[in-house]
Amino acid sequence: MSVPLISPSILSADFARLGEEVRAIDAAGADWIHVDVMDGHFVPNITIGPMVVKALRPHTAKPFDVHLMISPVDAYLEAFAAAGADIITFHPEAGPHAHRTVQAIKALGKKAGVSLNPATPAKMLDYLIDDIDLVLVMSVNPGFGGQSFISSQLRKIEAIRKMIDKTGRDIHLEVDGGVDVNTARLCVDAGADVLVAGTATFKGGPDHYAANIAALKRID
Ligand code: DX5
Ligand code: ZN
Repeated sequence: MSVPLISPSILSADFARLGEEVRAIDAAGADWIHVDVMDGHFVPNITIGPMVVKALRPHTAKPFDVHLMISPVDAYLEAFAAAGADIITFHPEAGPHAHRTVQAIKALGKKAGVSLNPATPAKMLDYLIDDIDLVLVMSVNPGFGGQSFISSQLRKIEAIRKMIDKTGRDIHLEVDGGVDVNTARLCVDAGADVLVAGTATFKGGPDHYAANIAALKRID
C-alpha cells in the first residue's frame, strides 16, 4: 500500500504559539501544512486570514495547503497567494462560478483544489477535473476540528479515484476530517493520497507529533 502524504491541520495547534507549532510539525515529518480559513459565514466558525499565513511563511519551507471555507472567495485569492499559499482549495458552493475561481487560482501561479462537502456529489467535479490539481473530500461537515469521520465519504473517494485515474493527470486526492490511524487506512484503501489530520497530529503535545505523524503514514 502506498504511503500517504500528511497535511496536519493547524486548527488543532496552540494558536498562541503558532510559529513554533508550525516548526514543530515540520520537524516531526509533516509533508504539507494545512491551513483552515473560516469566515463565520460559509461555515459557523472564524479562524485566520492572509496576515497570519504571511506571518507563518518564514517558519517552514513545506507547502502551505490553504483550505478556504469562505464566501465570497474570489476577492481573497490574491491575498492568500501573496501571503505564501502553495495550494488554494475552495468549495464550489462558495461562489457562483467555480470554473472561474479555478482559472483565477491558476493565473496566480498556484495549485488549484476543489473541496466537496459530505452532501456534495462527486459529479460536481465533471467539468472541473481536467483543470484542477487537487480534490479535497470533506469527511466531516466543515467548521470544526475533532468531529467524527463520516464513512459514506469512502464511496465518494473511490468514485473520485476512478475519475482521476481516467484523466491520466497527476491530481491529488486529499481527505479532511476525523482522520485517525483507523480511518486513515480506509481512506488510503479507497484511493486517497493525502490525509489532513488535526486532532490526530497534535494530540499529546509536541513530544508526540513525530510519532503521531508516523502512525498515520504506517498503515500497511
Ligand atoms: C474542518 C477542517 C479540518 C479540521 C480537521 O472544517 O477543514 O481541516 O481541522 O480536524 P480533525 O483532523 O481534528 O478532524
Ligand atoms: Zn481543512
